[in-house]
Amino acid sequence: MVTRAAKFSIQGLHVHYGSLCALRDLNLEIAAHELFTVIGPANSGKSTFLNSLNRLIDLEAHSRVSGGIRLDGIDIRAGLEVEALRRKVGIVFALPLPLPISIYENVVYGLRMQGVRDAKALDAAVERSLRESYLWEEVKDRLRTPAMNLSGGQQQRLCMARILAGQPDVLLFDEPTSGLDPISTARIEETLLVLKEKYTIVLVTNNVAQAARVGDRTAFFLMGEMVEVSATSTMFTTPADSRTSDYITGKFG
Ligand SMILES: Nc1ncnc2c1ncn2[C@@H]1O[C@H](COP(=O)(O)OP(=O)(O)OP(=O)(O)O)[C@@H](O)[C@H]1O
Ligand SMILES: [Mg+2]
Repeated sequence: MVTRAAKFSIQGLHVHYGSLCALRDLNLEIAAHELFTVIGPANSGKSTFLNSLNRLIDLEAHSRVSGGIRLDGIDIRAGLEVEALRRKVGIVFALPLPLPISIYENVVYGLRMQGVRDAKALDAAVERSLRESYLWEEVKDRLRTPAMNLSGGQQQRLCMARILAGQPDVLLFDEPTSGLDPISTARIEETLLVLKEKYTIVLVTNNVAQAARVGDRTAFFLMGEMVEVSATSTMFTTPADSRTSDYITGKFG
């Protein structure tokens, strides 16, 4: 039961790539401060869904979107500039892709692009963001060294810090731990559980156990359709649809 205010309200969302229907009639509300997880096999439309929430989908060739997405009650197409939307709704991808510059410059990259020049403001943003992504203690003495020297897990937390520096409302994660070892994965999961106190999080994961560990609610996508959405504990104990139980018990996918 969603009792908190809706952060996203999605109504009748369809996404096509040319003639392929990648997402069909999606209706969903995501509450503020919810950690909402999306599971499903390859090609089920998970990334398409995530990329619809910050309109990265507009950059895909031949994509067509219909239906409505509201963020805090405002239509993300009619009511918001795309730059403003993407500042509010940050995304972290599967492969950590830091820029080949220093740790510090990676974090402030977006702020510099927005025209922030004040050194104190930039320093403060770096410390705040790196603390929030639990990387500060590991890098505070080497902020000016290349980001590429960090481990994979550290690079992923740096990518999180880069998004957090822009003070978003919503964090989207597309399989953020798929390339990481179990310890780095556990650290990211712990970080997500802390971050949801402050942000709304939508996490796409190909790791069913990860959804079970961290999700408040979970949606199961299959071939562009949301088969089921429920409290995560319910989905993993008493799924309503046999296709969900087949997937979470590993019968396909
Ligand atoms: N830019 C594109 N052009 C054409 N078809 C696309 C494009 N992006 C995705 N698709 C197709 O849309 C469907 C949904 O893809 P999507 O990437 O959303 O799935 P996914 O659930 O994220 O899969 P995965 O688990 O492999 O990441 C797939 O059939 C895919 O081939
Ligand atoms: Mg994907």
